[in-house]
Amino acid sequence: MQTIDAPVVSCGALRSSDEGRRVTLNGWINRRRDHGGLIFIDLRDHEGITQVVFDPAQASFTDAEQLRSEDVVTVVGSVRRRPEGTINAKLGTGEIEIVVDTLVILNRSAVPPFPVNLDETVNENLRLEYRYLDLRRPRMQHNLRTRHKIIKSMRDFFDAHDFIEIETPLLIKSTPEGARDYLVPSRLFPGSFYALPQSPQLLKQLCMVSGFGRYMQIARCMRDEDLRADRQPEFTQVDVEMSFVSQEDVMEIMESCVRTVWRDVLHHDVPTFVRMTHQDAMRRFGSDKPDLRYGLELTDVSDLFAASDFVVFRTAIDAGGSVIGVRYPGGASLSRRDFDALTESAKRHGAKGMVWVALGADGVKSSAAKFISPELAAEIGNRCDAVTGDAFLLFADATELTRTVAGRMRVEIATKAGLRDPKVFAFAWVTDFPYLERDEATGLPVPAHHPFSSPGPGQWELIDSDPFAMRAQHYDMVLNGYELGSGSIRIHQAAQQRRIFAMLGMSDEQVEDRFGFFVRALEYGAPPHGGMALGIDRLVMLACGEEDLREVIAFPKNQAFRDVMMDAPSPVPGKLLRELYLTSTAPQAEDGR
Ligand code: AMO
Repeated sequence: MQTIDAPVVSCGALRSSDEGRRVTLNGWINRRRDHGGLIFIDLRDHEGITQVVFDPAQASFTDAEQLRSEDVVTVVGSVRRRPEGTINAKLGTGEIEIVVDTLVILNRSAVPPFPVNLDETVNENLRLEYRYLDLRRPRMQHNLRTRHKIIKSMRDFFDAHDFIEIETPLLIKSTPEGARDYLVPSRLFPGSFYALPQSPQLLKQLCMVSGFGRYMQIARCMRDEDLRADRQPEFTQVDVEMSFVSQEDVMEIMESCVRTVWRDVLHHDVPTFVRMTHQDAMRRFGSDKPDLRYGLELTDVSDLFAASDFVVFRTAIDAGGSVIGVRYPGGASLSRRDFDALTESAKRHGAKGMVWVALGADGVKSSAAKFISPELAAEIGNRCDAVTGDAFLLFADATELTRTVAGRMRVEIATKAGLRDPKVFAFAWVTDFPYLERDEATGLPVPAHHPFSSPGPGQWELIDSDPFAMRAQHYDMVLNGYELGSGSIRIHQAAQQRRIFAMLGMSDEQVEDRFGFFVRALEYGAPPHGGMALGIDRLVMLACGEEDLREVIAFPKNQAFRDVMMDAPSPVPGKLLRELYLTSTAPQAEDGR
């Protein structure tokens, strides 16, 4: 495909200093224009676009007339400076063009289902059905190449810090991470199933028992999750585990890794991460993954309503609850309809109602003007750091609920006020998580992280007296309102591990059946250890300024968790089911395919 005097160059490489060179370019037809008797083609590859010109005097001109978008070609020709007035400053190659003498049409393209050469919004399912075309677009090329660089930078970082990458199996027994398992039926063991890993948690801990000391893996994880925007049923983690370490050691290495990636790949210096306890995060931001790109901290103003005649607020306070305010910068200019929409939104987040107060230049307006005098409004405004032109929203109910609602409204306000700049990276650590949560459906205790985390120093004593007060040695890395990763110091003694399982209501038989192999391993000199996993999809998404995981995954599942390109999941022939000793009760299963 190349002659000696016409070396292959990429479509983004040539500059005016290359004038006179004879070159070969391979690429796709981005656009064809017939103009003044000449044919101009924008030829595209992943590095850029080069303008190539066909002259009617050339034999290739007739073939060039047939070229359509997305045909794939090789051209050979000479570089020449574009005439004055035709230079395209937006393109790196905008000062030159190629005068073609040879054209080889390597393959034709059918008419694409959407324009590949324009950055316009296309129906997502159509994009995913034709993902190979969607991925040709510069934005997707950029995202996936950035993903590659980030993963490479992480691997290099861990290698330089004496970690080794160990591949753990995909066909395993269940490891609980709070979602359902994907199961794989066994043909050789009728009626038995492998589980796909929700994470390599137990296996990486076993690597510590084996004496590896510093493990990492770019690990695929599979979770049969309920549909959520920031989740995919299969995703990638950078998974890390270390022996003989404290929480501080793990946090230091993970922070250092992320700061290295941001410096080397994004050329961005990230300051030392902010740190706060789980309790503080909930109090100040109503979230365990606070977005710290902007202030708007929650302000407790319960004391100002303790003696108020505003019954709704006073009742909440008398019942031990709180009144919490959030500032809305510039919110005084909102209409009543805008405030009504905010109230509806707060209700969707679980609020019983919402009071708004607008500090306009022409005076104070409020949905509860009868109970909030201008003086009181000024006092609350002061505490919330509100100035004239701002508004604030007030919520009252049980403290925890009110904080969560106010926290979600804080994010909504920031979105509306344009404070969520994707180019700002506000990293934080959240520490001292509660060990247990209450399962929403059953009310029973479930681990906030997973049952292998160790309670913090002095916390074991609470296991019988007040288990819900126990704090774990568990830490989350947070970025711009997303949980990027979580980790913990683990339990490394079998007796303690059994104790936690018992607290979670598991019988000895259940422990033996599910985790017998693991607890046994802890009996053979397991070293103290801890680790962490970061979600790479989320990390790359934020690094690329995207708002959806699918924009940084080559072949993701759609919003309904289906692969619309391959059509998966899909029914399988009855013969295949019989080989696996399975029968399906689903209506569409036995379709005879
Ligand atoms: P955890 O379950 O918190 O911890 O997962 C770690 C990180 O993985 C990412 N993540 C996801 N990303 C996309 N889609 C999903 N469905 C999904 N689920 C999780 C998140 C999350 O913070 N074994 C422990 C880690 C440890 O303790 O070392 C674990 O998996 O970014």
